[in-house]
Amino acid sequence: MQKINKICCIGAGYVGGPTMSVIANKCPDIQVTVVDINADRIAQWNTEDLDQLPIYEPGLKEIVGESRGKNLFFSTEVDKAIDEAQMIFISVNTPTKTYGKGKGQAADLKYVELCARNIAQVATTDKIVVEKSTLPVRTAQAIKSILDNSGSEVNFEILSNPEFLAEGTAIDDLLHADRVLIGGNDTPEGQAAKDALSAVYENWLPKERILQTNVWSSELSKLVANAFLAQRVSSINSISALCEKTDANIAEISRAIGFDSRIGPKFLNASVGFGGSCFQKDILNLVYIARSFGLPEVADYWEQVIIMNDYQKRRFAEQMIQTLYNTISGKKIVLLGWAFKKDTNDTRESAAIYVADALLEERAELVVYDPKVNAERIYADLDYLNTRSPEENRKLLTVATDPMEMVQDAHAVAILTEWDAFKDYDWTAIYDKMLKPAFVFDGRRILGTKQMNDIGFNYYKIGES
Ligand code: NAD
Ligand code: UDX
Repeated sequence: MQKINKICCIGAGYVGGPTMSVIANKCPDIQVTVVDINADRIAQWNTEDLDQLPIYEPGLKEIVGESRGKNLFFSTEVDKAIDEAQMIFISVNTPTKTYGKGKGQAADLKYVELCARNIAQVATTDKIVVEKSTLPVRTAQAIKSILDNSGSEVNFEILSNPEFLAEGTAIDDLLHADRVLIGGNDTPEGQAAKDALSAVYENWLPKERILQTNVWSSELSKLVANAFLAQRVSSINSISALCEKTDANIAEISRAIGFDSRIGPKFLNASVGFGGSCFQKDILNLVYIARSFGLPEVADYWEQVIIMNDYQKRRFAEQMIQTLYNTISGKKIVLLGWAFKKDTNDTRESAAIYVADALLEERAELVVYDPKVNAERIYADLDYLNTRSPEENRKLLTVATDPMEMVQDAHAVAILTEWDAFKDYDWTAIYDKMLKPAFVFDGRRILGTKQMNDIGFNYYKIGES
């Protein structure tokens, strides 16, 4: 079996950056170079001040600090890194297509294809090419076909090694992965490639947790894992709406059903809706694949997970508007949190964007605060929706840096991300500053109902009447 000592990763994003930092940290004998065409991003990865890394993840800066410059490198020299490496991870973005066939559902594979073409063009020695990006089942076939038609004598072995880290806990997830999945061909060369990649992970993970499958099972397992997780959130969110009508309590239900060892307690927290770059994109992709294989019942089944999530975001915004006497025009409403979950600066598909958009349509005056998301990102997220002009967005929404100052004369506060700091706020002091009656809409269920009612708030917690 080939021993790997040079790895290249194409794509220095939320997956490539943390994943490769951990590999480098745990495998001092392997030189890991992470490359990206985005020069700004690479410059940020190379920044002296580790607080300025492009991604915020607990534990990341310590690991980068230990390994960078020793066996971990961030570079824009894509071709050089490709040619030097024995193993190349493709970790580029695979967003939902916004044009052409499959628009709004299928994964856009243009960045992955560009990587394959780039590898085909510059490789002069044999390579193991690893799909780290989440890809539709059977993508490896397309990559192989591009690589095999490069006209050179180089041999390429394709592996699928999807990433299961969740943002906000990425480092912990990587260090203590439940499992690592490696899909490859059942040929001797395929087996050797799978074993070479297994050996990398065996530097810190027990062998039993490294699962080998065929390529297609590995590709599809990733979509299915995300679909199952998101389905749990949509399922509990659907019941949260029923709880609000019946005086049942969603936390009590989550606890009661989660005690069943067949169901388990995780991913049963009702919320304003799931966000993030993966769940929606991957389910839409699964829906598209099912439909393209002539399986409309399968497609409809999974599509319902997205429909329920959209309903939950809309329902939360409508609840706010209705409670605030059906008129929020000119009312100051404070949004706490913009990231799609705590402990990340990632805002992709965050529920906060859609709630804010609905409130802005009613001409509310919004003030947003998130400890890790800057104003530029918040405005970019809203502008991208194209509901209003950028000027209008800037007129109606301001971004605050001092959470206590911004609640002055506010009608309502909505909690949209479960940042721990929000729990520690002096809610009595906040109440004193707000207009009365003062409302809090808790889309993350992080505050105590009795505590908030005792202070005097009109307190709405998702899943409680
Ligand atoms: P990202 O957008 O944060 O990063 C992708 C990077 O790839 C960008 O910096 C981009 O500039 C770079 N890139 C694109 N084309 C390139 C090219 N031809 N050459 C060099 N660089 C190029 O995306 P991400 O969140 O890291 O996701 C990457 C993949 O991993 C996706 O397929 C995603 O579905 C999957 N995934 C993401 C997560 C997550 O939590 N974000 C978890 C598991 C899997
Ligand atoms: C997800 C998968 O968990 C991970 O395995 C995969 O690699 C990438 O996609 P991520 O999107 O980073 O990870 O975060 P996750 O913890 O799964 O949360 C996704 C969304 O669901 C967040 O908005 C979160 O707030 C929400 N959520 C999660 C709930 O609303 N309730 C829950 O019980 C769990």
